[in-house]
Amino acid sequence: MQKKIAIVVGVFFIGILNIFWLAYDGDVQNIPIVLHRVQKVSQVHIALGKEENSIQVMWTLKEDGKDCWIDMDGKKISNYQKDILEYLGNTGKPYKRFLYSSLLNSLEPATIYSYKISCIVSNITISSQKFSFRSPPSQNSTITAISFADFQTNYYPDPKDKYSKTKKANILPHLYQISKSLDNYDIILHAGDIAYDLWSYNGLMADHFMESIEHLSSRFPYMTVPGSHESFTNFTHYKKLFQPQNSLGLFYSFNLGYAHFIMLDSESFVGRLHTEEMIENHMKFLKEDLETNIQPWTIVISHRPIYCNPNPLCKVCTTACTQYSSILSGYLEDLLFQYNATLWISGNVHLYERSMPVYKNEIMQFGINKFENPPAPIYIVNGVAGNFDTEDDLSSVGDEKMPWNVVASESLGYGKLVVHNKTHLEWIQYAIGKTQQDSPDMIETARTRIIDEFFIIKTDN
Ligand SMILES: *[C@@H]1O[C@H](CO)[C@@H](O)[C@H](O)[C@H]1NC(C)=O
Ligand SMILES: *[C@@H]1O[C@H](CO)[C@@H](O)[C@H](O)[C@H]1NC(C)=O
Ligand SMILES: *[C@@H]1O[C@H](CO)[C@@H](O)[C@H](O)[C@H]1NC(C)=O
Ligand SMILES: *[C@@H]1O[C@H](CO)[C@@H](O)[C@H](O)[C@H]1NC(C)=O
Ligand SMILES: *[C@@H]1O[C@H](CO)[C@@H](O)[C@H](O)[C@H]1NC(C)=O
Ligand SMILES: [Fe+2]
Repeated sequence: MQKKIAIVVGVFFIGILNIFWLAYDGDVQNIPIVLHRVQKVSQVHIALGKEENSIQVMWTLKEDGKDCWIDMDGKKISNYQKDILEYLGNTGKPYKRFLYSSLLNSLEPATIYSYKISCIVSNITISSQKFSFRSPPSQNSTITAISFADFQTNYYPDPKDKYSKTKKANILPHLYQISKSLDNYDIILHAGDIAYDLWSYNGLMADHFMESIEHLSSRFPYMTVPGSHESFTNFTHYKKLFQPQNSLGLFYSFNLGYAHFIMLDSESFVGRLHTEEMIENHMKFLKEDLETNIQPWTIVISHRPIYCNPNPLCKVCTTACTQYSSILSGYLEDLLFQYNATLWISGNVHLYERSMPVYKNEIMQFGINKFENPPAPIYIVNGVAGNFDTEDDLSSVGDEKMPWNVVASESLGYGKLVVHNKTHLEWIQYAIGKTQQDSPDMIETARTRIIDEFFIIKTDN
């Protein structure tokens, strides 16, 4: 009898908490705060699947879910894979999460699907809210991507941490605004340095980050490459959260619309843990991939840059824009040139910088906003999504910018890539505030403004 009452009270209590969550989740204006006590289907995110017309759905539970399924427009999908992420950091408190992934196959192109994830945990069914996404469009459609890098959301649970009283701005409030409609974007491209770091605070940083971006990542395929900050646990957190069961791998490629995206792992070449074998494997993949690619546009997403201003006030630039960039250039630049790659989009340096078409430091076509049949790739650095790491500084660059540089800015922001069709590709950089040190309140209410826009026109396809 007593046990029954306890169960009833327990269920009632969970019910109350769930009501709280529902009320809370309804308000997408506010950035969610993670409540670690509540069991829920959390950290829902999607990615393009390996097969064409497929979407991989991923979610996390704090306890072992016995049976999970996805309700998708009247269809029940019960195939999923489970993994465990266990981590014992320096706090001595073990961290354990149950990670799930399920592949939604044979989707109709450009169709809105609704989905809800449910799992049975301790004999109680818990469900996510109902999410929706638009499936990848058919070949030869216009596609639009949100692009950013070096992104962390505000969260420091330890009051002793030097950052715990600092609130720093990031682009999340603006991403919430632009993600309200499924019409505007097809994918998100996050070029590494995710959450600073996924393993920090024993993994709680990942929980918080993944919860904070759920509104975006549950709607648009969240496509990532690993950054330098993902290396500290030998990419374990990164792989398990973003590439479950090695679905696409640390590097991979996919086609979307008229574009071919190469998701490069620059850590394989110059990262803390890189080996000769990793370089060889990556080069082999790249050569085969470029050789078989028939898409008119080739866009490389890499954490690390090949071209950036080696400005002396930017700590990371002294290595990133000289030593590491020249190693990357040595391996990759000829290949990219030979196969007519269009764009290289990176982060790592916490600035926005954009080049003219350039090859081996030589400007191959002069211009500002319009390039016709450019003979070499344009290079973008876009590490201004906001984070607690060092801010990079442009003030020492002044007139000393490299000749191929067109725009350089310290403003927080993100890019929008539109691959219109076979002949037209467009890039727009939105800036928020003046520098990365602007106050969070100011950033939340600030309007975005365009600080860079260019078209590439190709008539020789
Ligand atoms: C779940 O229910 C089964 C059957 O009613 C019972 O045997 C089992 O102990 C329950 N498990 C938990 C974790 O409550
Ligand atoms: C897409 O365009 C290419 C030529 O650029 C053409 O060969 C292919 O058939 C088109 N695909 C579809 C589905 O229209
Ligand atoms: C990192 O993980 C890879 C793949 O599991 C392994 O081959 C490699 O030895 C690991 N490196 C280190 C430094 O632990
Ligand atoms: C690259 O573009 C040039 C000039 O349009 C063309 O001649 C060459 O065949 C292209 N290379 C590849 C690998 O497509
Ligand atoms: C390609 O897209 C551009 C920009 O939207 C447009 O001006 C142009 O007419 C399009 N070309 C074709 C062939 O549809
Ligand atoms: Fe970074």
